[in-house]
Amino acid sequence: MTRTIIQNGTVVTASDTFAADVWIENGKIVALAQAGIKLGPEDQAIDAKGCYVIPGGIDCHTHLDMPFGGTNSADDFDSGTVAAAHGGTTTIVDFAIQQKGGSLRAGLDAWHAKAEGKAAIDYGFHMIMTEANAGTLEEMAACIREGVTSFKMFMAYPGVFLVDDQQIFRAMLRAGELGGLITMHAEIGLPIDVLIQRALAEGHTAPIYHALTRPEIAEATGTERAIALAEMAKVPVYMVHLSAQRALERVMEARDRGLPAYAETCPQYLFLDEDHLRGDPGDEFKGAGYVATPALRPKHHHDHLWRGLRNYDLSVVATDHCPFCMKDQKELGRNDFSKIPNGMPGVETRLHLLWEGVTQGKISLNRFVEITSTAPAKIFGMYGKKGTIAVGADADVVVWDPKREKVLSKDTLHMRVDYSPFEGRKVPGSPRAVLSRGELIVENDQWVAKKKQGRGQFVRRGTFSL
Ligand code: URP
Ligand code: ZN
Ligand code: ZN
Repeated sequence: MTRTIIQNGTVVTASDTFAADVWIENGKIVALAQAGIKLGPEDQAIDAKGCYVIPGGIDCHTHLDMPFGGTNSADDFDSGTVAAAHGGTTTIVDFAIQQKGGSLRAGLDAWHAKAEGKAAIDYGFHMIMTEANAGTLEEMAACIREGVTSFKMFMAYPGVFLVDDQQIFRAMLRAGELGGLITMHAEIGLPIDVLIQRALAEGHTAPIYHALTRPEIAEATGTERAIALAEMAKVPVYMVHLSAQRALERVMEARDRGLPAYAETCPQYLFLDEDHLRGDPGDEFKGAGYVATPALRPKHHHDHLWRGLRNYDLSVVATDHCPFCMKDQKELGRNDFSKIPNGMPGVETRLHLLWEGVTQGKISLNRFVEITSTAPAKIFGMYGKKGTIAVGADADVVVWDPKREKVLSKDTLHMRVDYSPFEGRKVPGSPRAVLSRGELIVENDQWVAKKKQGRGQFVRRGTFSL
């Protein structure tokens, strides 16, 4: 029987750092040994000398092949998952969408069809609910039985995804009965829409108006309201893509009162700022590449978000990967910032960027593992199978070389998009090897597994149990 051993590395989990060899059989970790297991002639050895051996990244917020803003996100389950793997992410949780007037079933089937035969790494789904009526509330039970145990609802995007408080509250109550988790896009979209209309009427069309019409207070208020609804329903709630200080303060206040309020932020809110939306002198439309929602904030928010990560007020860093090419896609909003498809690429660069945070002392090594893998596994019902290096877990493992510098560029990254928001940025570490269920899939930036498209498996997630 072929076994794989990852030798000479330092294993890092959310809680511990220790020297050990990691033994893998049949896709699972079977032993962590400090000495004494002899390699057989068939066994495959991977040298991790000088490297950290960490659980594969889990990106619990991606939008692959998503119809949005009059076009489709540029990565599908093929290119998006291959890119993820190159960056050390071995599991994604993507958002299936209930079409308005359609069923959750149809939305889920559509997403299974997008992923099957294409995904190169393991994947799960959240379900976006665009209506919480008697039918869809009933259907939530079937989703949960199938391992789709979390639901996203939007206070933003009127006419597209926005649902009212009554629907959110009903869905929360139902999630509470079933052990599901409601995740919230918490920006109050109706007043934002008025600000957008007013800006356009005044002739403001440039990308920076995306930020100027989506103020921080709209997110803070949405966050407060979502937490209040969850408190009334006596259920946990998870804020997606939290971007700013005041929204974070709402989460901190709730957590200080002992409420199960969780929040994720994204690399773009930790590393980029509102000024990117201004573009270059003479090319203000370059800012379109930085249009994502919530909008990038002024720089001073960064410190608050890093502190939130250190202090456990922010639980996760996911990417909200939702790429659109500048050519033909972002271009749709050249004369009207509100028509720029919202979203940025990021699934491949999350670990690279956060590693920079480790080298700068902003987060510890163990916290890096926790926010990129362990916490999303726990919150979204995958822990034990995914999210740690332990006997019995799936052998989703990254050999992380802390000295393997890399320059981020659209030309060498694998995301199917014609720009990088981080073009030219030198990052201090990167994966030497990436294993998915025990199979070496990426080595020194090359895809090395025999199979690529379709090797990923659907992950049936458990109910919320924190
Ligand atoms: O700009 C974004 N975030 N696009 C994806 C949709 C969403 O709101 O997550
Ligand atoms: Zn959102
Ligand atoms: Zn999103």
